[in-house]
Amino acid sequence: MPTDLTSTIPRSATAYSGLNLRLYDAFVLHFTSPRAWGCSLSDLTEMYRRHGTDDHAEIGVGSGHFVTEQTRHIDWTALSLIDPNPDALRFVSRRVSPGRVAVECASVEHLPLNDSSLDRVLTSNTVYYIGDLAIAFAEVHRVVKPGGTLVVGVGDPGFMARLPIAGHGPILRPIADIAATLGGAGFTVTSHARLDETADAFHVITATRG
Ligand SMILES: C[S@@+](CC[C@H](N)C(=O)[O-])C[C@H]1O[C@@H](n2cnc3c(N)ncnc32)[C@H](O)[C@@H]1O
Repeated sequence: MPTDLTSTIPRSATAYSGLNLRLYDAFVLHFTSPRAWGCSLSDLTEMYRRHGTDDHAEIGVGSGHFVTEQTRHIDWTALSLIDPNPDALRFVSRRVSPGRVAVECASVEHLPLNDSSLDRVLTSNTVYYIGDLAIAFAEVHRVVKPGGTLVVGVGDPGFMARLPIAGHGPILRPIADIAATLGGAGFTVTSHARLDETADAFHVITATRG
């Protein structure tokens, strides 16, 4: 992995470095997640357990808490970690068994991967930071194999719109718009689940490449 990519890190990824990464699990996942994304740490862990496989790729890794948690249950055959911030990738690679993961320092809009090279892609709590979702999903569609799957985890936009952070960074899109953008990129949405029964519950959208 190149060591100096700071000039190519998008603003949406610059926070995932140094002390912030070390505090991420305690502050973001335990404290902020229920308040900002409407889901508990155990909800998210369960989502990763359900949708992560031994050969999935994760886009937007954060601190890697969830892949680290999965390491206890999964013997990775081809885990790929993709993020534009090299610090985040180094941090996560150290947490997951070194040598058993492939890392790609890249934004979702420009993936340095071959066409039809991934079976399954998981991205959670990232779409709020991606300016042009159509470009991002089209790029993921390019690298996913026909019949492969993209799983998108996203906080409820109605819930998030009532938070003080609304209007100060995160892009809050109606879930129907996200699903339509997946369709426009060539995916077929095969399921839309909520992590609990409440109106504010976190969404998990599963889409297949035709
Ligand atoms: C809020 S964290 C989510 C981490 C983890 N998936 C979770 O659910 O806790 C957002 C992640 O998206 C990454 N990110 C930001 N902009 C991105 C982009 N354009 N392409 C790919 N990843 C991006 C950030 O570097 C960060 O690791």
